[in-house]
Amino acid sequence: AKVAVFVSGGGSNLRALHDAMTRGDVRASVAVVVSNKPDCGGVAWARREGIPTLTYPKPKGSDDGLRAEELVDALANAHGVTHVLLAGYLRLIPPELCRAYENKARLRFYFTGPRTTAHARRAPFLLEDFASLSARPSMLNIHPALLPAFGGKGMHGDNVHAAVVNSGARFTGPTVHFVNEKFDDGKIVAQRVVPVMPTDTPEDVAARVLAEEHVVFARVASALVDGRIEFRDDGVPVIVGED
Ligand code: GRF
Repeated sequence: AKVAVFVSGGGSNLRALHDAMTRGDVRASVAVVVSNKPDCGGVAWARREGIPTLTYPKPKGSDDGLRAEELVDALANAHGVTHVLLAGYLRLIPPELCRAYENKARLRFYFTGPRTTAHARRAPFLLEDFASLSARPSMLNIHPALLPAFGGKGMHGDNVHAAVVNSGARFTGPTVHFVNEKFDDGKIVAQRVVPVMPTDTPEDVAARVLAEEHVVFARVASALVDGRIEFRDDGVPVIVGED
């Protein structure tokens, strides 16, 4: 699988994912790194690794950067990207990209024997359409808190951990979820839990959560690219077939 990783910051999740791919834990490669900040740590790392980088959206006052439809075209065509991982990316995903990589309608149709098979034989293109419609969702985000708590617009980076400390919450941890057109709103795939100690500062919590992000993101990315994320009848994603 060929993955695009979106970053806005230091890129520790990007590096952790890349390490997991190098170890063979995630059967994919990073085809391209996308950022809204061309001078962030994640982009600098990608350049050092010889990984192509794209800027989206255009930074203020710069003529660098792609429009949404150019981004989708570059990912899907120029780079052959099959999956998108948002790793500390702080901007909203444009609808064009959501449509290209989001949780598509999963048509479940049950062939009931010869009648249907004959019908299918007469209209093979129909099967092709169904097959494409039932394509698997393929864009994940990692959020440094236990969604649906401490999520949504404006809840990112250290202000998430300050809110957690101020709330008196005794536990927190990262959430990996599918992406839709709102912040932190897609179906949850996995979470991990860490304690919040009474003496913790937001920085203490941030570091404890970040270490768990690296573990859980690689685990879900591996399931995603292997096609090991199934859906319960109510649409909740479930990872299957873990060793
Ligand atoms: C961190 O706050 C992390 O919790 C969140 O994005 C920020 C930057 O992470 N996912 P990274 O080091 O750039 O991966």
